[in-house]
Amino acid sequence: MNTIEAIRTRYSCRLFALRPIELETQQKMRRYLQARDTGPLGTRVRFELAAAGQNAAAELRGLGTYGFIRNPAGFIIGAAQPAPRPLEDYGYCMEQIILEATRLGLNTCWLGGTFTQSSFAARIQKAPEEVIPAVTAIGYAAPGSRSRDFVRRRARADRRLPWENLFFCETFEHPLTGDEAGDLALALEMVRLAPSASNKQPWRILRQGNLWHFYLERTPNYGRGSLLFTILRLADLQRLDIGIAMCHFELSAYELGYHGEWVDADPGLPLPGERTQYIITWRLLRGRVKAPALLNRMGRIND
Ligand SMILES: Cc1cc2nc3c(=O)[nH]c(=O)nc-3n(C[C@H](O)[C@H](O)[C@H](O)COP(=O)(O)O)c2cc1C
Repeated sequence: MNTIEAIRTRYSCRLFALRPIELETQQKMRRYLQARDTGPLGTRVRFELAAAGQNAAAELRGLGTYGFIRNPAGFIIGAAQPAPRPLEDYGYCMEQIILEATRLGLNTCWLGGTFTQSSFAARIQKAPEEVIPAVTAIGYAAPGSRSRDFVRRRARADRRLPWENLFFCETFEHPLTGDEAGDLALALEMVRLAPSASNKQPWRILRQGNLWHFYLERTPNYGRGSLLFTILRLADLQRLDIGIAMCHFELSAYELGYHGEWVDADPGLPLPGERTQYIITWRLLRGRVKAPALLNRMGRIND
């Protein structure tokens, strides 16, 4: 299964079969986790696969997660060191792990909560300066885990915002057309399929030639600054969402033969509102198609 297939296969699973993860699969996962030690923006991260206790629901109680997670075989728990953009990096790396787990036939569910002082922190021996912004439940799906999930229906988890609300060209007034996206239209479609906290889909991407600018459009009364998040001391989950979008975009682009790098290159464009902020830019370095018609048309021929 390649990345694009894994992205299409993944969904948030909240009902797991009472079955431990096969030993060989556990070993493969652990090897993969060991190699994830730095995010694309430079944050030092680490991840571990831990077996779930007898009562996972009780373990999660009071930690600010939503939805009822039944019978996970384990959890992927990670920690990030202080850095300029730890949440984006953590989101990116955890999602990469989730896609690998999907390839290995496992199912997962992101859980955003306050793990920093929980049993999860003890299990990975969190250092005082590290943060645990989220964990992932993991195991094999039980029959009906997708179709009979009430949380899925409430979060309208199978719905995504239309393309024109998410992707733009040159300015926020001009939605990006499929033609303008060129071969990378598929990478954008993979961003659309990404998981996000409460399915809010806060990612916005604006193309300027070979620069793909990533923005966060904050959901009103959600996340940083909201009463709920302040009381629960939840991490800024929408920044994790951006890291997840970065992961889907870059890995899909790579699979399509396009290579790029992450750079700070805020174009300083007028923003659609005060809830929108610039985060990071993916600069296309090399593509399979040297000078696609579109880049020509924009007068920005790549390399
Ligand atoms: C950062 C983050 C935190 C999440 N936290 C939870 C959670 O606490 N409980 C839960 O049941 N699902 C959680 N989810 C899963 C989302 O609800 C899910 O991704 C979204 O509804 C879209 O559905 P899908 O993942 O099946 O495509 C979280 C997802 C993300 C990305």
